[in-house]
Amino acid sequence: MHKCSLFVFLAGTIALLAGLSHAETVVSTPHYSLSSPDQQIQLQVEVKPEGVFYAVSYAGRPVVNRSRLGLKIKGQQALGEQMVLRKHSEREYNQDWQQPWGEQQTINEHYRELRLELIETSASPRQLTLVVRAFNDGIGLRYEIPTQAKLKEFVIEDELTEFVLAENSHAWWLPAYRNWGPEYQYLKSALSSVDVAFTPITLEARHYALAIHEAALVNYASMTLRMVSDNTKTLKVDLVPWPNGDKVRTAAPMQSPWRTIQIAPKAIDLLNSYLTLNLNEPPKPETLKSNNSYIKPGTYIKPGKYMGIWWEMHIGEKDWSPGPKQGATTARAKEYIDFAAQHDISGVLIEGWNKGWEGEWWKRTPTFIFDEPVVGLDLEEVTLYAREKGVEIIGHHETAAGVTYYEQQMDAAFGYYEKLGIHSVKMGYVGTRIDGDQWHHGQYMVNHFQRVVDTAARHKVMVNAHETVTDTGLRRTYPNLMTRECVRGMEYNGGSPDTGNMPDHTTIIPFTRGLSGPIDFTPGIFNFDYKKHRPHNRVPSTLANQLALYVVLYSPLQMVADLPENYAGHPAFQFIDDVPTDWKQSRALQGEVGEYLVVARQDKQSPDWYLGAITNQDARKLEVKLDFLAPKARYEAQIYRDGKDADWETNPEAYEIKRINVTAKSTLELDLKPGGGTAIRFKRR
Ligand code: NOJ
Ligand code: CA
Repeated sequence: MHKCSLFVFLAGTIALLAGLSHAETVVSTPHYSLSSPDQQIQLQVEVKPEGVFYAVSYAGRPVVNRSRLGLKIKGQQALGEQMVLRKHSEREYNQDWQQPWGEQQTINEHYRELRLELIETSASPRQLTLVVRAFNDGIGLRYEIPTQAKLKEFVIEDELTEFVLAENSHAWWLPAYRNWGPEYQYLKSALSSVDVAFTPITLEARHYALAIHEAALVNYASMTLRMVSDNTKTLKVDLVPWPNGDKVRTAAPMQSPWRTIQIAPKAIDLLNSYLTLNLNEPPKPETLKSNNSYIKPGTYIKPGKYMGIWWEMHIGEKDWSPGPKQGATTARAKEYIDFAAQHDISGVLIEGWNKGWEGEWWKRTPTFIFDEPVVGLDLEEVTLYAREKGVEIIGHHETAAGVTYYEQQMDAAFGYYEKLGIHSVKMGYVGTRIDGDQWHHGQYMVNHFQRVVDTAARHKVMVNAHETVTDTGLRRTYPNLMTRECVRGMEYNGGSPDTGNMPDHTTIIPFTRGLSGPIDFTPGIFNFDYKKHRPHNRVPSTLANQLALYVVLYSPLQMVADLPENYAGHPAFQFIDDVPTDWKQSRALQGEVGEYLVVARQDKQSPDWYLGAITNQDARKLEVKLDFLAPKARYEAQIYRDGKDADWETNPEAYEIKRINVTAKSTLELDLKPGGGTAIRFKRR
């Protein structure tokens, strides 16, 4: 790390600060510039009596025009007006760091930072610090409120941050404040037609692509973006409120999450950016000590594939409730364990394993008991049986959105898993509101979920959460925070009354939700004919597309979602058996949002590469250069592709396996059928 003072300058009258670090001075209306290390991104900050503003350009083109910054504190005037600079500092940071697990082992973190400590000009002034960082792939900005007499405990009533976008681009977005959070299909519209959106929101402009999101969301409310008035291009931060309208209940010193804008020439390049992770803290040094349960990859924190008593509930064959259709039984669990043990599948999930699932559990105050198995499932016996076969049971905490009820049992529940040697839990928060009146993305839930991650770590448990707060890269700081749903997943194809997802859904989510972090989408359906209880539902893809999803969608815990009997003896299962979940490196090679996507990843444990290519409802041919492979090396490409007449609607199961020899100089032509895909293992020879 070294200090660099060349990139901050005053465009106005005050030359005093130029070239100084930690300059102690007061100036009236300075205007700062900060550029990314490669100079492509330029960020301007202005401190004026009427407010603090920023603007961003990329490759000489405006991206965000002059936009307001600041906070509204309850009962006080806006923080960010009538302020002057008290102190500024600047630095450049350039280091590689290693992920203990992930889609990319080594990540370069290179940014230039500007820190502006502001103070009001009034007689009893308040203070606010603005920190901005410029990376080659985007920017981050955050507020800090230092310890001060006038702000001790307070409520943030509104965040004034705006994004006055320079162009009316194409927006890929999800409306916020609906009953099922982000579990909807994405919309594509003009930016000017957005009303209020979850982040990440992805914008495709003529000469660049953007994704606006946040990083390091801790003790704060999630950010949504609201169009300030109809049919404009100005999105303003709209923090998810508490029931009384408060946004954030906090105390100084505090810092907001980073507001991030990923910027790239094309949408595909956004997938190769690690901006969100780079704006999160490394694990705290004390958590690295050997007696601490965090960051001990190779101990309990292990990426891997898992199966589960799960899809059979969603397709109506079985039920979570005890009784004749009960899914969670000792005998059925052992069938899954037997199959997993014969393949490279390290975990078995048992939904409905505990007491309290009777009837319509999602409609009432929860009755779950988190340390007592349901009659018919001997969890101790099953756990032991699994261990003997080298498989681990995955726990399940469905809370039915009853957080207060759950927290009374939470520590004991994780203690119970620790005692049984269960090192992984799937969390669930099914319900339209948390505890009856809280949004799933407000500060209440953000703080609850942090307690879950901390408690799980104390008991050496990895977390995979459904219906929780959207990812903001906290897995860097908390390496037991593995993956989450926060998307309309495979389950909708199983049981949704609207028949399920559209075929283009999986070509949209890597460019949108996927930018926030790993997705527990649960791919791998081989049997497309589950009409007995679900006559109208269908997985909208071919079998080869299902295989390709293991590469296209990143998750360190990746479900092998279908029933063991649908995989048994199936030649295409070999790909699922082979595909890893922990990668040395990843490259999104080509794609367009909502159309198609090709991703290649290299295994962390071997020189082998894997490739996944998917298309929407349209057939297409793609040329893929294999120049990501090691030069001079020879590989066998084991290709799983759509059969000649494959079509997601009429013939999803038609596939072919082909083996050919290739090198880094080869080019492959992929022939994707409607809703189809190709999955390839490049085995080094
Ligand atoms: C919703 C989750 O997303 C799903 O995977 C799970 O099976 C049900 N809740 C029941 O907990
Ligand atoms: Ca869900």
